[in-house]
Amino acid sequence: MPDILVTGCTQLLTLRGAAPRRGRELQELGIVRDGALLIRDGSIHAIGPRKKIERLGEARRAKKIDLGGRVVLPGFVDSHTHLVFAASRAAEYEMRIAGATYEKIAQSGGGILSSVRKLRGAHRDDLKSRALAHLRQFAAHGTTTIESKSGYGLDLASEMKSLEVLQDLRHAQRVDIASTFLGAHVVPPEYRGRPDDYVDLVERIWIPFVARSGLAQFCDVYCDRGAFTVAQAQRILLAGMMAGMAPRIHAEQLARTGAARLAIRLRAASADHLEKINRGDIRALAASDVACTLLPGCCFHLGLANHAPARELIDAGAIVALATDFNPGTSPTANMQMVLSLACTQMRMTPAEAIAAATINGAYALRRHERVGSLEVGKFADLAAFDVEDYREIPYYFGVNHCRLVMKRGAVIYDQRGSN
Ligand code: NIG
Ligand code: FE
Repeated sequence: MPDILVTGCTQLLTLRGAAPRRGRELQELGIVRDGALLIRDGSIHAIGPRKKIERLGEARRAKKIDLGGRVVLPGFVDSHTHLVFAASRAAEYEMRIAGATYEKIAQSGGGILSSVRKLRGAHRDDLKSRALAHLRQFAAHGTTTIESKSGYGLDLASEMKSLEVLQDLRHAQRVDIASTFLGAHVVPPEYRGRPDDYVDLVERIWIPFVARSGLAQFCDVYCDRGAFTVAQAQRILLAGMMAGMAPRIHAEQLARTGAARLAIRLRAASADHLEKINRGDIRALAASDVACTLLPGCCFHLGLANHAPARELIDAGAIVALATDFNPGTSPTANMQMVLSLACTQMRMTPAEAIAAATINGAYALRRHERVGSLEVGKFADLAAFDVEDYREIPYYFGVNHCRLVMKRGAVIYDQRGSN
């Protein structure tokens, strides 16, 4: 593969330096005006002002890509998604608009369990082609790494089917996927009224099996009212850790349960949602190394105003990350640009903080910050170019796709430079 010289970056946001970012560090984007990069074998070989990079001997021989004056970011790292599902839940969306709540729909057998029924009946190839179409949307909106959970199978064969789909997708396209086992999403119908029996099964049989398959790097639990308790979540996550899967957790979304404190005790990679945390939780999270992954798409899609206290978390010094939570129930969007807009207007994060949370801190939440999340020498050449004049316009002009070109490990995976 020849070297590639990328120029035409009006603002090149490198995000160089501290990883992860806390407090004021979230404002530091390491912007190079009229920047350029030299890419070798999929990684960044040199980066800086165009005049300096163009002077390098290798740059003259390199294949040239001129972005024509665009704002360039590290590709988004979307550290919380539920990519594999069989159908939308648009009917529930309409029910909620008419007044039903997310929890009421779940109690009457809809919600996650309706996705479970559909996924169990779906063929692996159909799940794969649906997920592939969604992955193309992720890439088209500037995302180059995602995490995805299983969790709509809730029997071993269907959970494995979901994880195998994720494995197939790694070979079918270029976006990197970190896999998470979410066997403890909710109690499946077979174990209704016997949650501890289900936890036993997941802990003793499924987790060792999944770990041996090598198909999941992380283990997650939905710890909330209507799902699993802190004690049950602890059993599952400890079993995952014993088997070599690092913990992450859905915490404090609908009710405050103590799940965030559990994440801290277990040194989880991240605690996600956090809408219902209190002041003490904020202080404890800020003093920990757990990424606080905020998912404002959920409140937006559910029509709720109770966003997570992003401002307080950042000001206290927590490691705040942003993700889509792409899933058919609470946040059906693959668009991190929209998540930035929501973070800014609904959670009062600045555009700079939101970008750092969606790139380098997302990478940290997946324990991949050594390779992705910033544009620095030695890291993957994962980048996205946006058709705006200033990075703040990405969240400002909301609800449209500004992305025009995406590179993953130096390969162009999306190119719409011709369109405006
Ligand atoms: O992150 N709350 C639990 N899990 C998902 C929702 C899944 C669903 O409704 O299908 C979430 O919001
Ligand atoms: Fe989720």
